[in-house]
Amino acid sequence: MKISIKKEADIVKKLGQVVYVAGSQWGDEGKGKLVDILSGHYDIVARSAGGANAGHTICVNENGKTKKYVFHLLPSGVLHENKICVIGNGTVVHIPTLLEEIASLKEQGIDVHNKLKISNRAHLLLEYHKIIDGIEEEQKAGKKVGTTRRGIGPAYTDKISRSGIRVVDLMDFDFFAEKLRQNANKYMSMYKFEFDIEREINYYKDAFELIQGYITDTTEYLHNALTNGKTILIEGAQGTHLDIDHGTYPYVTSSNTTSGGACTGLGLPPNKIKNVVGIMKAYTTRVGEGPFPTELGGMEGDMLRDQGGEYGATTGRPRRCGWLDLMVVKQSIKLNGITSINLTKLDVLTKFRKIKIGVGYKLNGQPINSIPASLGEFANVEVEYIESDGWMDDISKAEKFKDFPKNCQKYIKTIEDHLDTPINFIGVGANRDQMIYR
Ligand code: GDP
Ligand code: IMO
Ligand code: MG
Repeated sequence: MKISIKKEADIVKKLGQVVYVAGSQWGDEGKGKLVDILSGHYDIVARSAGGANAGHTICVNENGKTKKYVFHLLPSGVLHENKICVIGNGTVVHIPTLLEEIASLKEQGIDVHNKLKISNRAHLLLEYHKIIDGIEEEQKAGKKVGTTRRGIGPAYTDKISRSGIRVVDLMDFDFFAEKLRQNANKYMSMYKFEFDIEREINYYKDAFELIQGYITDTTEYLHNALTNGKTILIEGAQGTHLDIDHGTYPYVTSSNTTSGGACTGLGLPPNKIKNVVGIMKAYTTRVGEGPFPTELGGMEGDMLRDQGGEYGATTGRPRRCGWLDLMVVKQSIKLNGITSINLTKLDVLTKFRKIKIGVGYKLNGQPINSIPASLGEFANVEVEYIESDGWMDDISKAEKFKDFPKNCQKYIKTIEDHLDTPINFIGVGANRDQMIYR
């Protein structure tokens, strides 16, 4: 299948010098794939928030075989030559995971040596954060968030309560070690667990040797790059409805996943981001707990999960599946300033005889225009659906909009009309080249 490089390049030109790729639902929309594709046209690819809770999958055709890469911390531009990949100040970095990703890429012949920059202001996610994440989930019993147990909440808690340990602290190793001892001792007595503090400190002594060459003031680096006309692609992690402020709190992650978070997470002012591409799966999925109005139990949900391979890229958990919910996406368009959409996994809907789209909510019989803040209310909304006929023909080899069956074209146009936002990219398969540009 061909990709029109020119068409892709034209779209990128329109997107401008700095663009943010935002998940518009509850994560796993397919951000990694678009970031990988667009990376070919950008100088810098940057992660601004989250940590190794993210799992971004890229499928590349190599010698007639599909090779799959999953990134948790490394930006998804890392497969391209001559790109700089930035892990920004807004992230929480688990160094062992990062080193594993670097080593695994090296085994596959990809060297990140001259590509990677880690913010000296990013916070370190340490082993005890992971332990605490697990303990807190167990203590919540019936009210679990369903976290990835990667220590994200506890690491951001340390950051916000001003007890966090930053990457820059490794530069003064005695200070780092003392701070780690203090924090670990506090948490061991608070949560009643055993932890070998000195072993962790020794690990970081060795690990620091391996990462010190990557540590940079990335804020300064990015501003200089902008002055020199370089382009920046910001890779969102998680999804808008997992945002700590705007998501389905408390069933959210612990960072701002929306475009505001992209600014603070990299030290870039809002007026630098001219465009935001929203990634929207042709249906909805969610991993972990929390309300999900269009969730499907039964056979249709199973069929979406099976056809879409909906199992977490980080934890392997089965993803909850349901129809596309345009109330959820509309809210994301508002919150992020989304200017164009990448509709992903449209191929997964092939062979559904009838397809539904959630287009409105009613609460206590009355239509509502936005997502209620109260979880109880959100859990009780009645979804208004439109139903259309599906299509049976395989679309995974389609190269342009006109190749789609009529009902498929209608599905796309209906969504576009409701969202009043152009769908510029359409994914018809997991591979890099299965993307249609409009
Ligand atoms: P991310 O976290 O947003 O980057 O998404 P994930 O990688 O967690 O999940 C998306 C999954 O869908 C991955 O397995 C991708 O390879 C796959 N994928 C992405 N786009 C498409 C598409 O258009 N069609 C199909 N069938 N799979 C896709
Ligand atoms: P990507 O970047 C889907 C979910 C977890 C849980 C909640 C809190 O691959 O789209 P956390 O470990 O962050 O404290 O978990 O958020 N979650 C994700 N769901 N995709 C993700 O990332 C996610 N990152 C976190 O399942 O419900
Ligand atoms: Mg994912």
